[in-house]
Amino acid sequence: MKNWILISAIAITLAAGTVTATEPDAKELAAKGYATFKAVLAGDEAKLPEAIGYMEESRKADGANVSNLFNLARAYFFEAITFIRQEPLVKAEQTFARIIELDPKRVDALSFHGSVLTIMSQGGDSAKFMQGAQEMRTAIERSPNDVTSRIVLSSTARNFPPQALAAMGNYDPSGDLQFVSNIFDRLHSDFAPHASVVMNAFVGEGYKMKGDEEKARASFQTALGVGMPNDAGARSGRELLNTAITERMNGGEKPLFANPLFSGCHSCHLAAADKLLPR
Ligand code: HEC
Repeated sequence: MKNWILISAIAITLAAGTVTATEPDAKELAAKGYATFKAVLAGDEAKLPEAIGYMEESRKADGANVSNLFNLARAYFFEAITFIRQEPLVKAEQTFARIIELDPKRVDALSFHGSVLTIMSQGGDSAKFMQGAQEMRTAIERSPNDVTSRIVLSSTARNFPPQALAAMGNYDPSGDLQFVSNIFDRLHSDFAPHASVVMNAFVGEGYKMKGDEEKARASFQTALGVGMPNDAGARSGRELLNTAITERMNGGEKPLFANPLFSGCHSCHLAAADKLLPR
């Protein structure tokens, strides 16, 4: 009898040990989700469900980890704008809203939240649209040096019809684009190896839309002149970007944003272009 109790006690201890050893904690799951999401942004889109899964698991274990929530919200946002899906857009809205509740200082989350609202308004709900546009502007007013807010506003506004831009006091993205471009020209990042290329190309596209061909050409040339990355994956991503920029510079009809490589999140991060899903 005594032996039996002892053995059960050992068995229970061992079982408990196994449970704690195999159940990763919130931080570990958040880190896995973040790393996997970065692979997705680089081009490996098939890993998106896995990335979201880790981050949702992490949220279950710790619902107040703002950095995990921010990555998760951006993953939903990425899914919504890349694959044109409604459900993740709703989840993105709720998750960005939760971050602002937990930490009102996160202007980047406010800016993304505003962007989501304008997309949700679908040109019909003008109150929602105006709230979203206002949130994106408030984010920049509150933290003028926050790069994310400026990228979010200038790239969201690209899709606005003229009436919407008029309702925003004829917002002109060139100031925000130039601001970000100046910062990225001085930044080197292995994870966003094309940031400077893409921003100079966007500045060029802005001139092109205003009909200033000379300045457009100069910005496209600056984009093409940025040093090639060393990493093989990043180089092949860069070659795709260069081809599109060169075409546009030499009179191509379509704006760069019409190219899926430039329209969403991949452009600056593209290092595994061969893994992009067909669509
Ligand atoms: C104009 C270029 C550009 C675009 C477009 C872009 N990013 Fe980035 N991203 C960057 C730069 C630059 C960094 C900083 C890299 C570093 O710190 O090494 C970065 C960093 C990140 C990071 C890691 C650092 C962090 O903030 O947690 C994530 C995640 C990320 N971006 C997600 C996205 C998502 C999602 C989108 C689309 C909504 C996107 N990016 C679009 C340039 C860009």
